[in-house]
Amino acid sequence: MDTITDPSINVMPRIGDRAPEFTAQTTQGQISFPSDYAGKWTILFSHPADFTPVCTSEFMTFATMQQDFQRHNTELVGLSVDGLYSHIAWLRTIKEKIRFRDMANVDVTFPLIDDVSMKVAKKYGMIMPGEAETQAVRAVFFIDPEATIRAIIYYPLSLGRNFDELLRVIKGLQTADAFNVALPADWQPGERVIVPPAGSCGTAQERMEGTTEGIECEDWFFCTKELSAETIAKKIHR
Ligand code: BEZ
Repeated sequence: MDTITDPSINVMPRIGDRAPEFTAQTTQGQISFPSDYAGKWTILFSHPADFTPVCTSEFMTFATMQQDFQRHNTELVGLSVDGLYSHIAWLRTIKEKIRFRDMANVDVTFPLIDDVSMKVAKKYGMIMPGEAETQAVRAVFFIDPEATIRAIIYYPLSLGRNFDELLRVIKGLQTADAFNVALPADWQPGERVIVPPAGSCGTAQERMEGTTEGIECEDWFFCTKELSAETIAKKIHR
Protein backbone atom coordinates (compact mmCIF):
# COMPACT_ATOMS: atom_id res chain seq x y z
CA MET A 1 0.00 0.00 0.00
CA ASP A 2 1.44 3.40 -0.86
CA THR A 3 1.60 6.07 1.81
CA ILE A 4 -1.24 8.16 0.45
CA THR A 5 -3.81 5.33 0.62
CA ASP A 6 -2.54 3.84 3.90
CA PRO A 7 -5.26 4.60 6.53
CA SER A 8 -2.76 4.24 9.41
CA ILE A 9 -1.18 7.59 8.48
CA ASN A 10 -4.38 9.33 9.48
CA VAL A 11 -3.82 8.61 13.17
CA MET A 12 -3.31 11.90 14.98
CA PRO A 13 -2.66 11.78 18.73
CA ARG A 14 -4.26 14.75 20.42
CA ILE A 15 -3.52 17.01 23.35
CA GLY A 16 -4.66 15.17 26.49
CA ASP A 17 -4.08 11.70 24.98
CA ARG A 18 -1.61 9.26 26.49
CA ALA A 19 1.57 9.19 24.37
CA PRO A 20 1.39 6.15 22.06
CA GLU A 21 3.80 3.40 23.11
CA PHE A 22 6.62 1.99 21.01
CA THR A 23 10.05 0.43 21.24
CA ALA A 24 12.70 1.58 18.79
CA GLN A 25 16.38 1.46 17.95
CA THR A 26 18.13 4.81 18.38
CA THR A 27 21.60 6.28 18.16
CA GLN A 28 21.76 5.82 21.96
CA GLY A 29 20.50 2.22 22.03
CA GLN A 30 17.00 0.75 22.26
CA ILE A 31 14.27 2.82 23.95
CA SER A 32 10.80 1.94 25.22
CA PHE A 33 8.66 5.02 24.94
CA PRO A 34 7.21 6.60 27.01
CA SER A 35 8.05 4.22 29.91
CA ASP A 36 11.80 4.95 29.82
CA TYR A 37 10.97 8.61 30.43
CA ALA A 38 8.60 8.19 33.37
CA GLY A 39 8.93 11.16 35.73
CA LYS A 40 10.44 13.40 33.04
CA TRP A 41 9.06 15.74 30.43
CA THR A 42 9.93 14.68 26.89
CA ILE A 43 9.99 16.45 23.56
CA LEU A 44 9.50 13.85 20.82
CA PHE A 45 10.17 15.51 17.49
CA SER A 46 10.54 14.47 13.87
CA HIS A 47 12.59 15.85 11.02
CA PRO A 48 12.25 15.09 7.30
CA ALA A 49 15.65 13.62 6.49
CA ASP A 50 19.26 13.25 7.54
CA PHE A 51 21.88 15.15 5.51
CA THR A 52 19.57 18.07 4.76
CA PRO A 53 20.43 21.66 5.66
CA VAL A 54 17.41 22.89 7.63
CA CYS A 55 17.42 19.70 9.73
CA THR A 56 21.16 20.12 10.32
CA SER A 57 20.65 23.66 11.59
CA GLU A 58 17.85 22.39 13.85
CA PHE A 59 19.89 19.57 15.34
CA MET A 60 22.82 21.87 16.04
CA THR A 61 20.51 24.34 17.76
CA PHE A 62 18.65 21.71 19.78
CA ALA A 63 21.87 19.97 20.87
CA THR A 64 23.38 23.31 21.93
CA MET A 65 20.28 24.08 24.04
CA GLN A 66 19.98 20.58 25.50
CA GLN A 67 21.16 21.66 28.97
CA ASP A 68 18.51 24.41 29.08
CA PHE A 69 15.86 21.74 28.50
CA GLN A 70 17.45 19.38 31.05
CA ARG A 71 17.33 22.16 33.66
CA HIS A 72 13.58 21.89 33.12
CA ASN A 73 13.59 18.10 33.58
CA THR A 74 13.05 17.69 29.84
CA GLU A 75 14.67 15.12 27.56
CA LEU A 76 14.82 15.30 23.76
CA VAL A 77 14.08 12.39 21.40
CA GLY A 78 14.42 12.84 17.64
CA LEU A 79 13.04 10.76 14.78
CA SER A 80 13.22 10.50 11.02
CA VAL A 81 12.36 7.72 8.61
CA ASP A 82 16.08 7.18 7.95
CA GLY A 83 18.05 4.21 9.27
CA LEU A 84 20.51 4.00 12.13
CA TYR A 85 23.67 4.06 9.98
CA SER A 86 22.47 7.15 8.15
CA HIS A 87 21.77 8.83 11.51
CA ILE A 88 25.21 7.93 12.86
CA ALA A 89 27.00 9.13 9.72
CA TRP A 90 25.01 12.40 9.64
CA LEU A 91 25.60 13.20 13.32
CA ARG A 92 29.33 12.46 12.87
CA THR A 93 29.43 14.81 9.86
CA ILE A 94 27.67 17.54 11.85
CA LYS A 95 30.27 17.24 14.62
CA GLU A 96 33.29 17.07 12.36
CA LYS A 97 32.42 19.48 9.55
CA ILE A 98 29.47 21.81 10.01
CA ARG A 99 29.66 25.32 11.39
CA PHE A 100 26.48 27.35 11.70
CA ARG A 101 26.12 30.72 13.42
CA ASP A 102 28.43 30.48 16.45
CA MET A 103 28.11 26.68 16.68
CA ALA A 104 30.82 24.19 15.72
CA ASN A 105 31.94 20.74 16.86
CA VAL A 106 28.38 20.05 18.04
CA ASP A 107 27.85 16.64 19.62
CA VAL A 108 24.25 15.39 19.38
CA THR A 109 23.88 13.14 22.43
CA PHE A 110 20.10 12.79 22.59
CA PRO A 111 18.63 9.67 20.93
CA LEU A 112 17.63 9.76 17.28
CA ILE A 113 15.14 7.03 16.36
CA ASP A 114 15.63 4.74 13.35
CA ASP A 115 12.13 4.68 11.85
CA VAL A 116 12.69 3.25 8.38
CA SER A 117 9.45 1.28 8.75
CA MET A 118 7.56 4.54 9.60
CA LYS A 119 5.99 2.62 12.49
CA VAL A 120 6.47 5.44 14.98
CA ALA A 121 5.93 8.29 12.50
CA LYS A 122 2.55 6.82 11.58
CA LYS A 123 1.50 6.36 15.24
CA TYR A 124 2.24 10.02 15.88
CA GLY A 125 0.70 11.48 12.71
CA MET A 126 4.08 12.71 11.51
CA ILE A 127 3.52 11.71 7.86
CA MET A 128 1.43 14.29 6.01
CA PRO A 129 1.23 13.11 2.38
CA GLY A 130 0.10 16.49 1.06
CA GLU A 131 3.45 17.85 2.26
CA ALA A 132 5.65 14.75 1.75
CA GLU A 133 4.74 11.09 1.25
CA THR A 134 8.07 9.60 2.21
CA GLN A 135 9.33 11.97 4.89
CA ALA A 136 8.05 13.14 8.25
CA VAL A 137 7.09 16.77 8.70
CA ARG A 138 8.63 18.76 11.55
CA ALA A 139 6.36 17.59 14.37
CA VAL A 140 6.93 18.42 18.04
CA PHE A 141 5.14 16.56 20.86
CA PHE A 142 5.46 17.87 24.42
CA ILE A 143 4.84 14.96 26.81
CA ASP A 144 4.58 15.34 30.57
CA PRO A 145 6.00 13.09 33.33
CA GLU A 146 2.74 11.07 33.39
CA ALA A 147 3.07 10.41 29.63
CA THR A 148 0.22 12.73 28.65
CA ILE A 149 0.60 14.77 25.46
CA ARG A 150 0.38 18.40 26.57
CA ALA A 151 1.13 20.38 23.40
CA ILE A 152 1.77 19.68 19.73
CA ILE A 153 3.36 21.90 17.09
CA TYR A 154 3.76 21.08 13.40
CA TYR A 155 5.98 22.88 10.90
CA PRO A 156 6.34 22.19 7.17
CA LEU A 157 9.51 20.93 5.52
CA SER A 158 10.78 24.31 4.41
CA LEU A 159 10.69 26.15 7.75
CA GLY A 160 13.07 25.47 10.64
CA ARG A 161 11.60 25.53 14.13
CA ASN A 162 12.07 28.27 16.72
CA PHE A 163 13.79 26.51 19.61
CA ASP A 164 13.37 29.42 22.02
CA GLU A 165 9.64 28.94 21.50
CA LEU A 166 9.92 25.21 22.24
CA LEU A 167 11.67 26.06 25.52
CA ARG A 168 9.04 28.71 26.27
CA VAL A 169 6.32 26.07 25.80
CA ILE A 170 8.03 23.80 28.34
CA LYS A 171 8.45 26.68 30.81
CA GLY A 172 4.84 27.74 30.27
CA LEU A 173 3.36 24.27 30.76
CA GLN A 174 5.41 23.70 33.91
CA THR A 175 4.55 27.15 35.30
CA ALA A 176 0.83 26.69 34.57
CA ASP A 177 0.90 23.33 36.39
CA ALA A 178 2.98 24.46 39.36
CA PHE A 179 1.15 27.72 40.09
CA ASN A 180 -2.38 27.02 38.78
CA VAL A 181 -2.25 29.97 36.40
CA ALA A 182 -2.59 30.56 32.66
CA LEU A 183 -0.08 32.43 30.53
CA PRO A 184 -0.99 35.29 28.20
CA ALA A 185 0.17 35.87 24.64
CA ASP A 186 3.95 35.93 24.24
CA TRP A 187 4.43 35.35 27.98
CA GLN A 188 7.96 35.03 29.26
CA PRO A 189 8.93 34.08 32.85
CA GLY A 190 8.77 37.20 35.07
CA GLU A 191 5.77 38.71 33.28
CA ARG A 192 2.31 38.92 34.84
CA VAL A 193 0.24 35.75 34.67
CA ILE A 194 -3.50 35.18 34.32
CA VAL A 195 -5.25 33.98 37.46
CA PRO A 196 -7.93 31.30 37.25
CA PRO A 197 -11.63 32.13 37.13
CA ALA A 198 -13.33 33.71 40.12
CA GLY A 199 -14.05 31.35 42.98
CA SER A 200 -10.61 29.86 43.34
CA CYS A 201 -8.97 33.23 44.13
CA GLY A 202 -11.72 35.37 45.59
CA THR A 203 -15.07 36.25 44.09
CA ALA A 204 -15.37 38.33 40.93
CA GLN A 205 -16.58 41.27 43.04
CA GLU A 206 -13.65 41.01 45.51
CA ARG A 207 -11.21 40.94 42.63
CA MET A 208 -12.80 43.91 40.87
CA GLU A 209 -12.69 45.87 44.14
CA GLY A 210 -9.03 44.99 44.54
CA THR A 211 -9.53 43.19 47.84
CA THR A 212 -7.95 39.94 46.67
CA GLU A 213 -4.28 40.58 47.42
CA GLY A 214 -1.97 41.03 44.45
CA ILE A 215 -4.65 40.47 41.84
CA GLU A 216 -5.49 43.21 39.35
CA CYS A 217 -8.56 42.97 37.14
CA GLU A 218 -9.30 44.80 33.89
CA ASP A 219 -12.77 43.28 34.01
CA TRP A 220 -14.33 40.32 35.82
CA PHE A 221 -12.91 37.85 33.28
CA PHE A 222 -9.40 39.29 32.90
CA CYS A 223 -7.35 39.22 36.09
CA THR A 224 -3.58 39.04 36.45
CA LYS A 225 -0.96 38.85 39.18
CA GLU A 226 2.79 39.05 39.49
CA LEU A 227 4.82 35.85 39.40
CA SER A 228 8.54 36.51 39.47
CA ALA A 229 11.05 34.56 37.41
CA GLU A 230 12.86 33.75 40.68
CA THR A 231 9.73 32.23 42.23
CA ILE A 232 9.22 30.12 39.13
CA ALA A 233 12.87 29.07 38.98
CA LYS A 234 12.83 27.95 42.63
CA LYS A 235 9.93 25.63 41.95
CA ILE A 236 10.61 24.21 38.50
CA HIS A 237 14.37 24.32 37.85
CA ARG A 238 16.62 21.39 38.63
C1 BEZ B 1 15.98 20.45 5.02
O1 BEZ B 1 16.04 20.03 6.16
O2 BEZ B 1 16.79 21.26 4.56
C2 BEZ B 1 14.87 19.99 4.14
C3 BEZ B 1 14.38 18.71 4.27
C4 BEZ B 1 13.38 18.28 3.44
C5 BEZ B 1 12.84 19.15 2.49
C6 BEZ B 1 13.31 20.45 2.40
C7 BEZ B 1 14.33 20.88 3.22
